Amino acid sequence: MREKIDELLKRVEEFSPRTAAELEEFRIRILGRKGELNGIMEEFKSVAPEMKRELGQSINKLKNRAQERFNELKNAVETAGDITAERSGNDLTRPGTAQPIGSRHPISLVRREICGIFERLGYTIAEGPEVEDDWHVFSALNFPPEHPARDMQDTFFIEKNPDILLRTHTSSIQVRTMQTQKPPIRVVCPGRVFRNEAISYRAHCIFHQIEGLYIDEHVSFADMKQSLLYFVREFFGPDTKIRLRPSYFPFTEPSAEMDISCNLCGGKGCNVCKHTGWLEIMGCGMVDPNVLEACGIDSNKYSGFAFGMGVERCSMLKYGVKDLRMYFENDIRFLHQFDTVI
Ligand code: DAH
Repeated sequence: MREKIDELLKRVEEFSPRTAAELEEFRIRILGRKGELNGIMEEFKSVAPEMKRELGQSINKLKNRAQERFNELKNAVETAGDITAERSGNDLTRPGTAQPIGSRHPISLVRREICGIFERLGYTIAEGPEVEDDWHVFSALNFPPEHPARDMQDTFFIEKNPDILLRTHTSSIQVRTMQTQKPPIRVVCPGRVFRNEAISYRAHCIFHQIEGLYIDEHVSFADMKQSLLYFVREFFGPDTKIRLRPSYFPFTEPSAEMDISCNLCGGKGCNVCKHTGWLEIMGCGMVDPNVLEACGIDSNKYSGFAFGMGVERCSMLKYGVKDLRMYFENDIRFLHQFDTVI
């Protein structure tokens, strides 16, 4: 009996399973109902009374140790589960499973492309805050106090302080740039803008714009026209034509709206261009002297042009996206279509 106890204790201590299955086998063989431990207990019943005390203590010790060892081994097998599983059969030299990689968001792609075109013309990037004050968004840009764009219906104001608001256009960055830089100034200003609009396939309360500003001596409307023609040919293709329609913005004089020839029908007329052959893509104009003066630039010496366009709109026209909401839904079936665009 004594030898049996010692021999089993030794086996318990030395046992080292490689898999969970081996450990389970050990549990059944030793700790199970018909296992070796219970066998010893059975034999113990017929041991001579004078031996009972000593042997009983040893059996208890064995029982506790066997249970303890089982618990230790169980933890070890569970944590090393994967490794042991591979050792017992899987081929570690097999190539790993490919992880799907993300792609750039079409808005980022288009923003980078547009900024890149202007950077090649010598423009630099300028950014500004999304939470702005009235002066940078409206007053410095020559908006009269009663202008409807200042209205609650368009602008998100910060509660309790009507002077603080979410910028409604990136033109606020041209103000900040003129305040801090001396001409010649050539900047493009990408950013997120906010307007209190109902969300639909063509409007959202959050969208992206890129503003452009060029200030120097003798800058003319013809310079603007040629720079913008260069831009659309780079972005939409070399055959793209432009047309400028007279328009009004408080911060430019004269002001224009620029259209490009429809890149889908080549100008013949289709659903997208509403059978006009033209697509509106940006506002532009010569910076109003009032704006130059408000920002500390001598309007007798310097002149310049500015332009502003919607990134979503450019992206929709370039990639034929019909619903602006797609850009905000993060549906990877949509986003994956831009995987191949670098
Ligand atoms: N800020 C105008 C808008 O949000 C866009 C714009 C038009 C910007 C004409 C300009 C500009 O710089 O000259 O609708």
